[in-house]
Amino acid sequence: MGYPPRMYELIKAVEATRQRRYDERHPRLSPEGKQQLLEKFHPDYRPDTMRPVKVGVSRGTVMPHELVDVLESWSRLDPEKFPLDKIDYDVDVLIIGGGGAGASAALMANENGADVLLATKLRLGDANTMMAQGGIQAADKPNDSPTLHYLDVMGGGGFANKPELVRALVQDAPLVIKWLEDLGCMFDKEPDGTMTTQHGGGTCRKRMHAARDYSGAEIMRTLRDEVKNREIPVLEFSPAVELLSDGEGTCTGAVLMNLETREFLIVRAKTVVVSTGGFGRLHIADFPTTNHYGATADGLVMVYRLGGRLVFLDATQFHPTGAAYPEQIVGLLITEKVRGLGAQLVNIHGEQFVYPLETRDAVSSAIIRECVERKKGIVTETGQYGVWLDSPMIEQIHGEGTILRSLPAMYRQYARFGIDMRKTPILVFPTLHYQNGGVDIRDDTSVTTVENLFVAGETSGGVHGRNRLMGNSLLDVVVFGRRAGVAAARKARHVESGHLSLAHVSDYHKELEDAGLPKDRISPILLPSYTRHQAVPGANPAV
Ligand code: SIN
Repeated sequence: MGYPPRMYELIKAVEATRQRRYDERHPRLSPEGKQQLLEKFHPDYRPDTMRPVKVGVSRGTVMPHELVDVLESWSRLDPEKFPLDKIDYDVDVLIIGGGGAGASAALMANENGADVLLATKLRLGDANTMMAQGGIQAADKPNDSPTLHYLDVMGGGGFANKPELVRALVQDAPLVIKWLEDLGCMFDKEPDGTMTTQHGGGTCRKRMHAARDYSGAEIMRTLRDEVKNREIPVLEFSPAVELLSDGEGTCTGAVLMNLETREFLIVRAKTVVVSTGGFGRLHIADFPTTNHYGATADGLVMVYRLGGRLVFLDATQFHPTGAAYPEQIVGLLITEKVRGLGAQLVNIHGEQFVYPLETRDAVSSAIIRECVERKKGIVTETGQYGVWLDSPMIEQIHGEGTILRSLPAMYRQYARFGIDMRKTPILVFPTLHYQNGGVDIRDDTSVTTVENLFVAGETSGGVHGRNRLMGNSLLDVVVFGRRAGVAAARKARHVESGHLSLAHVSDYHKELEDAGLPKDRISPILLPSYTRHQAVPGANPAV
C-alpha cells in the first residue's frame, strides 16, 4: 500500500533538506519560550477541556471533562442492598491490577510473607506496561548519578513534583534494573557486557535501558513469569468495581466482578494495593491514544469514592509522536527512541521546527503549532494532520541495519502497510499517552488520606509533576510496585481483618444527589465504549 502518490511528492522536500539538516542542531527553547508555547498550544491549557469536579474530597479541583464524568457517576452496586455476608476470599494483601506495578507488588508482598491475591480486569500482563517500547531510566553509569536523574525528573515535571517521591524513584532505579536482570529480563548490552543506554527527551545523561523497542513487553514477561513461578494466586477477568471499608474510612477489601458470569466476588483483605493504570482510554480532549483497552481510570474512581485525594490531574501527557498515517494505526505509539536515535521532526517544507528531545509537553505543543498556527503540517486524505519524523536519518547517523536492530517493532508496524521507515519518513501527530497525576501517596505508596490502602503506578500522582519523562513510567511501576508490596505486606502484619461495608459509597451517592448530578452515569466503566468515541476521534483534536 505505502503512501498515496501525493505524499511521496511531499516527501521529496524532506529528502532535499536531509543532508543539510544532518549537522543542524535546532536551538533549545528558553524556559520562557517553553511556557509561552505550552500556554498557547498544549491541550491542558485549552479552556474547553476541563471543569471542576463537584463531589468528593478533591471537590473544586479542575480535571478533564472525561475524568470528571466518571467521578461524578454512580456505583455499579447499590450500597444499601448489596450483600456483604459471604466472603469469597480472605487474604492479607489484595492487589488490584495485573500490569507492571501490580505484578511487582505481588512479588514483593509474597517475599515479605503475605498471603496475596492479585485480581486483574483482563489477563495478567494486559496493561500499558506491556505496550511501553522505548525503555526504563536508571542512573547506573559512572558518568551519571541519582542526583542528576532527580534534577531531570524535577525539570521535566515543571518542578511541581513531590520531592520525596522523586527521591524514591531515582534512588531505587539502579536496584530495580539489577532486580529485573536477576529475574531474567534481557536488556540490550554492548559487546563488553555493559548495558546499552540512550538519551530520552529532557535527560542530561544517557540512562535509558532498553530491550530493543520491546522494553515493556520484556519487563512484563519477566514479572509475569515470576508471579507464575511463585504460584501467587491470580484472578483474571475479574476487575474490582468497588473498594470496601470498615465504615470509618479504612480500606478492608474490594468487590470484584467476574467478567464472564457477571457474578460479584467479595474479597476481605488487611491491606489493598490499587494499581489499575491510568485514564488513556477516556480519550481526553478527544485525542486518539497509545493506551491499553483497560485504561479506563477504574482505580481513580474507586479510591476517590473512599476518600483518596487526587493531584495533578489537570496535567495530561500527549506523546508527540503518535502515528498519523496510515489510518489503521492512528494514535499508536512511535517510540521516543526514534528521536533518541537522531530522527528529526520536520514540516512540509523539510524544515526542523523544534529540538526533537525537548520534553514531551513542549514537542507536542510545537507540532500542534506547526500544523494549526503556522499551517506547515501535512494533511492526509482523511483530514488528519501530521509532521514528518525523518526516520531514514537514523541509518545515516548510526549505519545501515540500526533500525532493524534497535526498532524492530516500529519497523514491522510500518512494513505491514508497505512503508519502509528506513527509506521514507513517517507521519506523526500528538496522541494521548499518560496520566501525569493521580492519587496522592507517600513514598511507601500509602494513600495520604485513607488507611490500609496503597496505590502504585499510573494510578498515583505526584512523582512526575506536570509532565513525565520517557522511561520513567516503566521505572515508576517497578519502583513503586515493589514499595507497595513491601509496605502492604508489613502493614498487614499488624492489622486485624476488618468489618466490610459500602458506607462510603452511600455517602458518595448522597453527595452526587445533593449536587443534582444526573443518575444515568455508572462507573468504573471497565471497558471503553466505541459507540460513543470513534477510533480516530475528530481526526484533528487540536483544531
Ligand atoms: C516511548 O517509548 O516513547 C514511550 C515510553 C514512555 O512513555 O516512557
